[in-house]
Amino acid sequence: MTRPIYLDYNGTTPHAPEVIEAIRPFLEQEFGNPSSSHWYGIRPRQAVEAARRQVAGLLGCHADEVLFTSGGTESNNQALKSFGGARYGQGNHIITTAVEHPAILEVCRALQRYGFEVTILPVDGSGLLDPQSVAAALTPKTIMISVMHANNEVGTIQPVAEIADLIRGRGILLHTDAAQSVGKIATRVDELGVDLLTVAGHKLYAPKGIGALYIRRGSGREVFCHGAGQEMGLRAGTENVLEIVGLGRACELATERLAETGAHLQAMRDRLEQGLLASLPDIRINGHRQKRLPNTCSVSFRGLEANRILEEIGLEVAASAGAACHADHVQISHVLEAMQIPPDWAKGTLRFTTGRMTTTDDIDHALQAIISAVRRLRPS
Ligand SMILES: Cc1ncc(COP(=O)(O)O)c(C=O)c1O
Repeated sequence: MTRPIYLDYNGTTPHAPEVIEAIRPFLEQEFGNPSSSHWYGIRPRQAVEAARRQVAGLLGCHADEVLFTSGGTESNNQALKSFGGARYGQGNHIITTAVEHPAILEVCRALQRYGFEVTILPVDGSGLLDPQSVAAALTPKTIMISVMHANNEVGTIQPVAEIADLIRGRGILLHTDAAQSVGKIATRVDELGVDLLTVAGHKLYAPKGIGALYIRRGSGREVFCHGAGQEMGLRAGTENVLEIVGLGRACELATERLAETGAHLQAMRDRLEQGLLASLPDIRINGHRQKRLPNTCSVSFRGLEANRILEEIGLEVAASAGAACHADHVQISHVLEAMQIPPDWAKGTLRFTTGRMTTTDDIDHALQAIISAVRRLRPS
């Protein structure tokens, strides 16, 4: 059986062949513990440090500002809980947005139970945050701001650098969840002006269960996990050497190919989007027209239910829904709700996301499948 065409690269990515090759020696021979002082520890230890430099190369930071974690969710948790928690005495106010991933919004909800105050800022119809709304929400108790770099559902890119300019010199930490942008667009920490930045390996052709948190020098040394002192004493536990090596190689590839990758992702996404718009009435593209990830196409099919379309195309195309059907109601995603997409449109929203491996043939086949499914489902 042929596999459905994969258009869910914001969900996860396949492993890059170069990533698999980089991991292989550590799977087959180099099993040593990086903390061992004997011969077997040398290569794994060097590999972990080389990977740290590769991640730093992509982010434009120092290697000692990169901490390996288990992925985007952990990086976000640690950014808010460890760094927010350490500043609790100075204030208790955190600012974030309504379109963050649950790995931010749920952490904020948990922190509220410990006495933090959280302001959740609205976005406009394209999913964009107004930096002035951040300025207006600041209080003397604000200790941290967490604004995602790019949205996972609609791809809108937030004005992180403008927010950094607004708060510079006020002692407020700026975190950005860059899980979706790393490897797709530039994510240089100095251009963004952030103190903390989240990386998720499986969104950029590295394995699942590995990520990193960028921590600007001088932001503090918060211990996430006490133990035998690995990861510069901040996150103890024997390192996940295989995946760290994989993430390092994936970041190196992303650095080398960023412009070329971005152009390819966009060419594929635009081909899909234009094909849909040219063939189907009553559809709309969500997200900001210009400030948008090059690979993300969130499209609403008015009057249809997302899951019905996914069922109909499921053997041919793998994509994800912006709304989930329950027995008696349709649950629209919090992102589409925050963007105030009318329910009649929102419940028929699908996310198609292209990747490095997507071909024009893939797009043309996917277009055929989607267009004929929608025509079958729509009463004429
Ligand atoms: C914006 C964003 N943040 C965080 C995460 C969570 O990352 P991970 O799956 O590595 O925990 C995701 C994953 O979908 C994401 O899209």
